[in-house]
Order: sequence, then structure tokens, then C-alpha cells
Amino acid sequence: MSVAKKDYKRITTKSLIEMKANGEKISMLTAYDYTMAKIVDSAGVDVILVGDSASNVMAGHETTLPITLDQMIYHASGVVRAIERSLVVVDLPFGSYQSDPKEALRSAIRIMKESGGHAVKLEGGSEIKESIKRILNAGIPVMGHLGLTPQSIYKFGTYTVRAKEEEEADKLIEDAKMLERVGCFALVLEKIPAKLAQKVAESISIPVIGIGAGSGVDGQVLVLHDMIGMTHEFSPRFLRRYMNLFEDMTAAIGQYVSDVKAVDFPNENEQY
Ligand code: KIV
Repeated sequence: MSVAKKDYKRITTKSLIEMKANGEKISMLTAYDYTMAKIVDSAGVDVILVGDSASNVMAGHETTLPITLDQMIYHASGVVRAIERSLVVVDLPFGSYQSDPKEALRSAIRIMKESGGHAVKLEGGSEIKESIKRILNAGIPVMGHLGLTPQSIYKFGTYTVRAKEEEEADKLIEDAKMLERVGCFALVLEKIPAKLAQKVAESISIPVIGIGAGSGVDGQVLVLHDMIGMTHEFSPRFLRRYMNLFEDMTAAIGQYVSDVKAVDFPNENEQY
């Protein structure tokens, strides 16, 4: 069915549900600071995720586990100051919601109040159902995240594709249905077989946004620094690099170094 695309001035959780109903794919990218978020927002990306991947990309940690709630709030505040159109979703970091629903709600409230973000994202299914319900009851929109959930990396042991076996796939489908039932507005599926991701997207009415989950879902998300090639050591099969900024920036910075050494910069027009 082809439906005319609506020109959304501001993306809300409701717009995303409408997009799914109209067959319009949703674009989502990460951003962790004001300058990048301004570019991402003006390029027309529907959802900006202030992901806990900031722990890797911005701070250089090996995993997403070390980033704190205060640090997430710092990143999200800059992003929120930049945006005019995109919906801003902020990850609840590891350790800020797993112990009990009250703690989860307190963390979500801090994100909403102190950063101005529009929604939070939590990793997990049935294990965190009560926390999700409590956050939703406070009027805070929640995005789910199933499949490869990097906060549980030490439980999985590897970053390989999840839910290839029937038992894990069945649990994932059940969890996705539960997330819809309790009132999540969308769901991220990370690194699972494309067929399974499509099955999930077809069996629930909330948007399913994939990363390494094939094209049969309702939208796609990538880590910005990976897709513009600022990072270059991480090359999973699902990643499409749209630029090679690592090379371009290295060349530009190398040129600057040569110009300074050669007293070619600044020239007469570049001084007072
Ligand atoms: O933190 C993040 O960047 C994410 C995406 C990979 C979905 O959760």
C-alpha cells in the first residue's frame, strides 16, 4: 500500500507509530553532543539515540558498562539543546535500573528532568518488566531493546548474532509482545537473524528498529561514528560506512601539522 508521506515538523512517539502504520521506514542514529546532533537533526533523522555506546565511542571504554547516569545526562543535554525536529531517546545506563523498579523510575526521572530528553531506552525483556511498567506509569515513554544487549556482554561472552536457536527466538518473540502490551512505543532489535526480526515486526504494532536485523523491520539505527567512518577498527557485516572520516580527518590534520611546521599557516590574510 503506498501512502503519501506526512511532513512531520516535530517527531513524537505517536509519529513513529503512524509511520509504521503508513509503511514509512524510520531513520535513527546515535549522537552524543551538541554539534553532531545539530547535523543529524538538520539532515532529517527521525530519532536521535543518545546511546550508552558513548561509553565506547566518546570515552574509549571496551564495553558500555562503565558509563554513568550523570555522564548520560551530560551527553543528552547537549543533544537536546541542538535539536529542532528529531525525537531524542536516551539510554538508561547499566546499573541505573536493574536492581529494582523504584531505582529504575528514579533514573528515568533524572534523565527526563535534567537532560530534557523525550524518552528512555532499557535493555531486556521479562526480567525488567516491572521497571518498565513503573517508568511508563510515570508518563515517561519507553523504547525496548532485545537481541544482542551489550550491557549483558559478560553473560553472553561474545558479540555474535543472538537468537539463532529456537528457545532464545521464542523468548525474544514473547518479550517483544510483552513490551508492546505494557505500553512501550518502539523496540530496538540488535544483531538477530533477519527472518526472526521480520516476524517480530509483523507480529506487533509498535515500530521495530533494527541494527544488524535485516530490512524486514520498520526502521534502522546505526552508531553515527561508525557510519561516517570516524571509527575504523569496528567492521561488522551490518555496518555500511557512508564516509571515511578517519582518513579524511587524518589527512586534513596532517596537512595542518605540515603547514604549521613550514610557517605556511597562518598567512597574511589569516592574521590581524
Ligand atoms: O547504545 C547504542 O548505540 C545502542 C544502539 C546500538 C541501538 O543501543
